[in-house]
Amino acid sequence: MFLFDLGIDMGSTKTTIYVEGKGVVLNEPSVVAIDSETEKIIAVGRRARRMVGRNPDSITVVYPIKNGVVSNFTLAEHMIRTFVQKVCKNSMVKPRAVVAIPSEITNVDRITISDVIMSAGVRKACLVEKPLLAAYGAGVEFGAKRGSIIIDIGAGTTDAAIVTYGGLALNASLKIGGETIDEEIIKYIRTKYNLNIGVRTAENIKKDIGCAVRPFTEVTMSVKGIDYATGLPMVIEVSNNEIYDVILPVLKDISGVLSIILEQTPPELIADISIEGILICGGVANLTGIADYFTQTLRIDASVVTEPEFCAARGTGPVMRHMRELKAFGYQYRSIEKADVPGVDDSEFQDV
Ligand SMILES: Nc1ncnc2c1ncn2[C@@H]1O[C@H](COP(=O)(O)OP(=O)(O)OP(=O)(O)O)[C@@H](O)[C@H]1O
Ligand SMILES: [Mg+2]
Repeated sequence: MFLFDLGIDMGSTKTTIYVEGKGVVLNEPSVVAIDSETEKIIAVGRRARRMVGRNPDSITVVYPIKNGVVSNFTLAEHMIRTFVQKVCKNSMVKPRAVVAIPSEITNVDRITISDVIMSAGVRKACLVEKPLLAAYGAGVEFGAKRGSIIIDIGAGTTDAAIVTYGGLALNASLKIGGETIDEEIIKYIRTKYNLNIGVRTAENIKKDIGCAVRPFTEVTMSVKGIDYATGLPMVIEVSNNEIYDVILPVLKDISGVLSIILEQTPPELIADISIEGILICGGVANLTGIADYFTQTLRIDASVVTEPEFCAARGTGPVMRHMRELKAFGYQYRSIEKADVPGVDDSEFQDV
């Protein structure tokens, strides 16, 4: 018999699964491809992702997690089941799981995530806020007295928090992220060049020439799309300076998530967090110049953690190891998710 616990981060664009002692063992796009007519599932994860933007009318490609919450229960369940089975192929017993969730979430969304996880073959689940996991994943020690500030900028959600003594002191979450930047790039290219580009092209522009601070030297990139006027293919040259101007307003909104927290932070904690500085994680942490942007706008040193997109998944490890102590904060494995936030007395659901 083979028995272990999983750490699951179901992101809007990718799902990662962590196993203690092995690290991140699964990293797959959170995508499902279905037959448009029969609604039969054709592909999940990487194979489905290859079809995005290239799929014929007979195939629909769906991201069942949007802004960090479940938008299509059936497809999300199938997708997570497939991923869990991939990781637990030799296990006779259903695993338990620590699951990353946005730090501000409705009770309905919380219960839905728990239902999906349980229906997908997990025995018991402990839901933990993403920025708390991200802090552990970034190396913040469990139970550390000194406060740390962290921001997880994903595709569809930005979560920020101050973590002290192993728990969340302050947190905030907004439904913006890398996809918001992609949408703004699509709008800009349409308005300025009358060119229709797809989501993947917009994402490539962001990754290749996007930056969070005004670039020193101008770099251009060829962008292919469909001319709205003629309906024919067209190629234009786009510069990093113009993309910087497109990205900046979104970054202001993203850094607003940190401002919300900093406004409420007592002076002692400000002194604490200034020592280590702002820890940046999530896929958008890879955007060129993002640490400089936060340092300049918030006047607190900021740095990008290593492998920022795996931070929340990695942080499930310390949660598994400290589950006993975390009970005091209301975290524990449960077979049924109650409609309450952590910290309530829910002894009838306790794990044994
Ligand atoms: N080099 C890069 N520059 C800019 N953005 C990047 C880069 N690499 C990845 N990203 C963006 O990071 C985002 C994905 O981040 P991440 O994997 O943390 O999201 P997620 O966990 O799936 O989503 P969420 O946590 O919001 O549900 C995408 O929008 C992607 O385009
Ligand atoms: Mg994420």
